[in-house]
Amino acid sequence: MYSPIKLALKYIRYYLTASNGRGFEIHSPFVFDFITKVLNNSRKFHSFHKIEHCRNMYLKDENELQIEDFGAGSRKKLFQNRRIKEIAKSSLKPKKYAQLLYRMVDYYQPKTIIELGTSLGITTAYLSSANSNAKIYTLEGSSEIAQTARKTFQFLQLENIELLEGEFQKTLPGLINSLNSVNFIFIDGNHRRTPTVEYFRLFLEKSTENTIFIFDDINWSEEMERAWGEIIHHPQVTTTIDLFFIGIVLLKKDFKSKQYFKIRF
Ligand SMILES: C[S@@+](CC[C@H](N)C(=O)[O-])C[C@H]1O[C@@H](n2cnc3c(N)ncnc32)[C@H](O)[C@@H]1O
Repeated sequence: MYSPIKLALKYIRYYLTASNGRGFEIHSPFVFDFITKVLNNSRKFHSFHKIEHCRNMYLKDENELQIEDFGAGSRKKLFQNRRIKEIAKSSLKPKKYAQLLYRMVDYYQPKTIIELGTSLGITTAYLSSANSNAKIYTLEGSSEIAQTARKTFQFLQLENIELLEGEFQKTLPGLINSLNSVNFIFIDGNHRRTPTVEYFRLFLEKSTENTIFIFDDINWSEEMERAWGEIIHHPQVTTTIDLFFIGIVLLKKDFKSKQYFKIRF
């Protein structure tokens, strides 16, 4: 993970070099449509208030959870205790990005959505509320976190979510095998290079040319930058959009050549 200073410098560079999306440099009709109708749409949807209320409750919650650490790749399970309010502060996607995901689901209407990394279920709640006809599969390895996420779904009365508990390497292959296709994938757990690229390859098996991938924290560390670099150069990838804190990957075949966009958000 980069130091806060390095990350800030990277962000400044991104901000100064990214397109504001309003110029003539956006030649892709899909991306132009995405910028004007989804990215820069400031509409507030009815569900936002309820979900943010739930986030605010967690931000004040002093209770501790015992959580597994998957980062070290150790055979032994490493546990640590963390307050719910600390998890809510540091692990969840901020509302700006969670609400962008909501607008994407609302606009593109994907039917099968997968989230890798549920945490307290706040972003899952956005994905779920954006289309009650979609099925959301969300994967979480840490048992007490998963239990809390289930409470989030109950509290918000969300019924189109299936939470798969366990390490991604155990739960993901079976899930992918059981599905005919996947339409929208949010990869927000295990921010290391090799697993990130492997998850992407696994999902490709059940992707269509309309599948949308969102990768979290693509500029967070050298490993994640390298993972993003490998993914965007994959032969099946035709368009990528770098929004600094997240990256969007498309496989649409109607684009003649690869297009890489960096858009200010
Ligand atoms: C950044 S948080 C997810 C945040 C959530 N998507 C949101 O925006 O509200 C990542 C979660 O992934 C889980 N995780 C990380 N690596 C994992 C692995 N290898 N297997 C299962 N779960 C994992 C962590 O326990 C953590 O809760």
